[in-house]
Amino acid sequence: MFEKVQIAPPDPILGLTEMFKADTNPDKINLSVGVYQDAQGKTPVLATVKEAEKRVLEKENSKGYLPMTGEPMYCAAVQELLFGEGHEIIASKRAATAQCPGGTGALRVAGDYLHTVHPQAKIWLSNPTWANHSTIFAAAGMKCEKYDYRDPATNGLDFDAMCASIKAVPEGDVILLHGCCHNPTGIDPTPEQWSVIADLLAERGILPLVDFAYQGLAAGIEEDRAGLQILTKKVKQMLICSSFSKNFGLYRERTGALTIVADDSEQASTVMSQVKLRIRYNYSNPPSHGGQIVATVLGDKALRAQWIEEVADIRNRINEMRHLFVQTLKGKGVEQDFSTIIEQRGMFSFSGLTKEQVAKLREQYSIYIVDSGRINVAGMTPDNMDRLCEAIKSVL
Ligand code: LMR
Repeated sequence: MFEKVQIAPPDPILGLTEMFKADTNPDKINLSVGVYQDAQGKTPVLATVKEAEKRVLEKENSKGYLPMTGEPMYCAAVQELLFGEGHEIIASKRAATAQCPGGTGALRVAGDYLHTVHPQAKIWLSNPTWANHSTIFAAAGMKCEKYDYRDPATNGLDFDAMCASIKAVPEGDVILLHGCCHNPTGIDPTPEQWSVIADLLAERGILPLVDFAYQGLAAGIEEDRAGLQILTKKVKQMLICSSFSKNFGLYRERTGALTIVADDSEQASTVMSQVKLRIRYNYSNPPSHGGQIVATVLGDKALRAQWIEEVADIRNRINEMRHLFVQTLKGKGVEQDFSTIIEQRGMFSFSGLTKEQVAKLREQYSIYIVDSGRINVAGMTPDNMDRLCEAIKSVL
């Protein structure tokens, strides 16, 4: 059976991490995968997570299966974080949440549900988008289309083109929107633009699927809900795929969720019954540990307040690196304008570096950046900044 199998291409993001790990250069820099590093270049376990883990281990008295939709306390915490305490969607029970193995797991469950229950629906992805979006939905059997997003001339949002694209999306299709911290560009719509987008979706009967993996990394936990809140005011039905990889640093614990927002609670349960089938065929029920950590932190007033501070530290460090990066390049006399990076939000920015320049950085300087030129700003530190900018200057 296996003789004729050909080697698969490396993953455009995780494949680079494998190369980075194998690189023996002590000065190597990893700006590829979206994983936060502190000023010492380490990916820490949050203090609130450590404390919650202690409490969870003390209390845990069974390793029995979780329900297919996961831990109910966790699902309630997810909804509260997405919509805010006491929100109408929560009070009227017109949302249903399933704990999923990471944001990726949630996206795949959503794709399986959409493809089997709404087989005509295509999914529209921003151009560009996270490299794994199209492969996840294609693997689920969905047809993927693109809508305009970034304007290469300004390295900002081409909002007119985005709206024109949305106007061409047929009724009954699905559009994937990034809740905040657009991956890979770091460019988000303003609240006014979210409002126009929401009107267009409502008018045209397009189902939004919001990928919300970076809540808290743009402006704050509550602030980063702005887009989602505008959307929920104007559009009744949607899917939300969320993740605690970044804002809790729970990457390897695979802690995500799929939330269905429906017209009413009965419709939400009906849709969830279909989602549950797809979960059962796929991984049966989710892993428990990450969900217990999140539910413990968010359910304890003091831990929750401390966690909000920890997320602020992550966000502030990334923003400091955005400024330092632009300043250092300027200080080295680099003429190419990188200043838009300061306005972008979250972990990522589009550097404008070409595939060839990215390859040179990797081969000559052991600096790892995704081929598209996307850089993980959270991989920059005060210590690696000079070397990084010197190398970029030399390949420009
Ligand atoms: C990224 O875009 O680098 C992250 O979301 C991690 C991943 O799984 O690709």
